[in-house]
Amino acid sequence: MSQHTNQSWGGRFSEPVDAFVARFTASVDFDKRLYKHDIQGSIAHATMLAKVGVLSDAERDTIIDGLNAIRGEIEAGNFDWRVDLEDVHMNIEAKLTERIGITGKKLHTGRSRNDQVATDIRLWLREEIDVILAEISRLQDGLLSQAEQHAEVIMPGFTHLQTAQPVTFGHHLLAWFEMLSRDYERLVDCRKRVNRMPLGSAALAGTTYPIERSITCELLGFEAISGNSLDGVSDRDFAIEFCAAASLAMMHLSRFSEELVLWTSAQFNFIDLPDRFCTGSSIMPQKKNPDVPELVRGKSGRVYGHLMGLLTLMKSQPLAYNKDNQEDKEPLFDAVDTLRDSLRAFADMIPAIQPKVEVMREAARRGFSTATDLADYLVRKGLPFRDCHEIVGKAVKYGVDSGKDLAEMSLDELRQFSEQITDDVFAVLTLEGSVGARDHIGGTAPKQVRAAVGRGRELLANR
Ligand code: ARG
Repeated sequence: MSQHTNQSWGGRFSEPVDAFVARFTASVDFDKRLYKHDIQGSIAHATMLAKVGVLSDAERDTIIDGLNAIRGEIEAGNFDWRVDLEDVHMNIEAKLTERIGITGKKLHTGRSRNDQVATDIRLWLREEIDVILAEISRLQDGLLSQAEQHAEVIMPGFTHLQTAQPVTFGHHLLAWFEMLSRDYERLVDCRKRVNRMPLGSAALAGTTYPIERSITCELLGFEAISGNSLDGVSDRDFAIEFCAAASLAMMHLSRFSEELVLWTSAQFNFIDLPDRFCTGSSIMPQKKNPDVPELVRGKSGRVYGHLMGLLTLMKSQPLAYNKDNQEDKEPLFDAVDTLRDSLRAFADMIPAIQPKVEVMREAARRGFSTATDLADYLVRKGLPFRDCHEIVGKAVKYGVDSGKDLAEMSLDELRQFSEQITDDVFAVLTLEGSVGARDHIGGTAPKQVRAAVGRGRELLANR
């Protein structure tokens, strides 16, 4: 009878589980990814059980040796994952019993797969967050180098995607640095709540064995022990929080991608993206497509989707653990993979982009980007700002009609619009004058860009 059913829970069953249902309910195909953390958790649990006298030292050692051998087998690709054993936890436990006999069956004393899986995911996610944080730092480091190198390069700044005011390329790049700093902070903060230990919650109510959760907590490097067993096994808010932080980071990378796509187009032609980050077209020989940024822009959607998916997964679950939670893994895994790989692509790509200095400069020169500077100049001559705005508006209209930029007009032409204009005006109409005048913290002046690079370097050095 029960020999045809799952050995871990077959005792109360009178017929084997339907073959399709076995496949339908199994998670091993994806949760085997947690094997290392599952074994890590089990070793800590066995160590603690021996310390409190539930296992003998000899039993503990046999279990730990067996688990280490299994890890080796998995890593060598020799482990036979069985769908009939449902998930990573029961596959490893069954293999342990097969290897070391009856002692293997004692490992699960005082715990449940419910606290086991919640622990495993947290251990796994904690490690992945650290990899992601390192990739963010690497990308930020690349941005700082580029910004420093191009602190003086002038490009048009945009609002509404219309030429607005000149900015420095370094300043523009440092805007991305700021966004990534906040993404970093959010993930550091999220990690604190990931790093709490549910192990010891057992199935839902705790356990009758004299467990010492502080021992496993310390062995596993958790910052705190979850304070309620029902909450410990059931909530996945930490995974949702990660996906929320990941969604924001992907949103930033997607905006960044959009700019790279625009800038590499023939119409903008602001930067050169090396060939290794692009692909060609099978039909149009002239094409060089910015595939990497396009793909990152596209991938942002799947991470937002995972955030929605996990919120929906959680929203109607009564306490405590429900099988629904098995559905947490694939979205979380994919959100992690997508964010990590997108950051990696950007961290590789950004140090390699080359601004086309002359093209950017020419674009900034056209489009009346120093119109605000002319208005500010007139304010300094004593006129109210609103009147200056009007005067400069007329000058721009004249420029549009005559095909001249402000800096190309003669003093007489400019003086048609205001008698206050004298020949010192040309200094403010230059691009260098315009960016250099925005000389305060957060401004676009080359000097301020260098100061911001210095602050950025210090931030990275203190992580
Ligand atoms: N594979 C399950 C999951 O991922 C493990 C926990 C299952 N617990 C249970 N009592 N069915 O959530």
